[in-house]
Amino acid sequence: MDNVAPLNRSPADKLGRPLRDLRISVMDRCNFRCPYCMPRERFHEHYAFLKTAERLSFEEILRLTRLFVPLGVRKLRITGGEPLLRVNLPDLVADLNAIPGVEDIALTTNGVLLGKHAYELKAAGLSRVTVSLDSLDQDVFAKMNGGFGRVGEVLDGIQHALDAGLGPVKINAVIQRGVNEESVLPLVEHFRGTGITVRFIEYMDVGNRNHWDQQLVVPSKDLQSRIHERWPLHPVKPDHVGEVARRYAFDDGRGQVGFISSVTQPFCGSCSRARLAADGVFYTCLFAQHGTDLRGPLRAGATDEELLRTIRGTWMQREDRYSEQRMTLRARAHNDPKVEMNYIGG
Ligand SMILES: C[S@@+](CC[C@H](N)C(=O)[O-])C[C@H]1O[C@@H](n2cnc3c(N)ncnc32)[C@H](O)[C@@H]1O
Ligand code: SF4
Repeated sequence: MDNVAPLNRSPADKLGRPLRDLRISVMDRCNFRCPYCMPRERFHEHYAFLKTAERLSFEEILRLTRLFVPLGVRKLRITGGEPLLRVNLPDLVADLNAIPGVEDIALTTNGVLLGKHAYELKAAGLSRVTVSLDSLDQDVFAKMNGGFGRVGEVLDGIQHALDAGLGPVKINAVIQRGVNEESVLPLVEHFRGTGITVRFIEYMDVGNRNHWDQQLVVPSKDLQSRIHERWPLHPVKPDHVGEVARRYAFDDGRGQVGFISSVTQPFCGSCSRARLAADGVFYTCLFAQHGTDLRGPLRAGATDEELLRTIRGTWMQREDRYSEQRMTLRARAHNDPKVEMNYIGG
């Protein structure tokens, strides 16, 4: 293959950002209907989810991932939709784990099926899990996920993940004003001192169907001061360039909390994430309106070199920084919808 960057070199995008992370959505379906992601009235029983043949097969995901790695990707995150709905997922993890250059494979899940799969996933080479949990209160939890599952199942999934060695486990909690704000302190209290870090995510305007309203966004700094009043916090230095969450440690040494503040403190400047959607479209931003189809050429017989050139060229043309330009871009976006979260994952 000519034109292939050496393993230790990665093309930069137009804003000088390297390619380091690949988020792979393996499933557009979900067993929840979180109103902020897949509202029930839009993702109803007649909704046209991808057919099996439209989703990338494991072989196709592997082939594409093998091409992303020489361009700089070191970390993979498997997501969805709900990734644990994808049959035989541990087989994919094992094959991804065998790709030279892949250093870390994480999974984001709503946790309901984690109890069943944690050991198999660990054995296959999964490094870590992030579990989404927006409240410990069953009624609020149900409101935040469209009425599915039980808090107990998610906590059980988290325990299985810890027992299987899939730590450090992180919790993602999306907070919406007036809906689950009261769940913040109980979540912190529950996980403080357990080694599990809760990360509070600002409600984002992903896709077009979640009726995003800025009034419902609770700025991270408000949450941080509420938590600080009860359990004093101090900031912690980022672990690596491009870390999405700003982390704070409890002054009493009982762990950390994180804040993912895409709305009030955008982190586009250091974003090194590429996203491969369940149908094989490559997106360079979570809020993208357009992507680059890789499934079409792949199934039409493109060579590795041709696919690599496409991936590389797409990254080099990248200039997305949606979160920094949110209000201007939202005003223009009416006729040109963004891709939905369940295709590309969080
Ligand atoms: C799309 S989900 C996919 C994986 C899995 N189903 C889960 O919920 O963890 C990935 C993450 O995106 C977050 N998310 C979804 N919609 C969001 C929104 N509108 N604003 C902020 N975070 C969102 C979820 O809470 C979750 O932590
Ligand atoms: S956030 Fe995750 S669990 Fe909730 S609807 Fe979206 S994909 Fe499903």
